[in-house]
Amino acid sequence: MTGCPVVTENALAVFEGKVVSSVDAGTHTVFIADVASAHALKAGRPLSYAYYREHLRGKTPKYAPTYMPAKAIESTREKREEDAMKKYICDVCGYVYDPAEGDPDNGVAAGTPFDKLPDGWVCPVCGAGKDQFSPEG
Ligand SMILES: [Fe+2]
Repeated sequence: MTGCPVVTENALAVFEGKVVSSVDAGTHTVFIADVASAHALKAGRPLSYAYYREHLRGKTPKYAPTYMPAKAIESTREKREEDAMKKYICDVCGYVYDPAEGDPDNGVAAGTPFDKLPDGWVCPVCGAGKDQFSPEG
């Protein structure tokens, strides 16, 4: 053990790791670590992702700090979809980037949200960078 405090209540095992990298997965962050130690605390059936999906149906329990009512989840999803299809206007020349059309002349497929444009993408009219675009409306 490394000496760092660990939660052992309601746990079957403890893993400790040294974080070597992290990945933003959109809804959460995935930490990638080298395992420093691993210890079984007691025998039992672990809470698995399969159990979570079967019994909680992938939803957060009502009293969890991250709980959101189904309506709120749906409106968040709708807002995210709206944001993904939001048009952006070039502040320099007025060109409008429409995600529904993309920029096929420059290798950007229709349906590509503005925030998913390649880093080097520039305004096809004046050459301004993405940082010189503003959301429409
Ligand atoms: Fe432009």
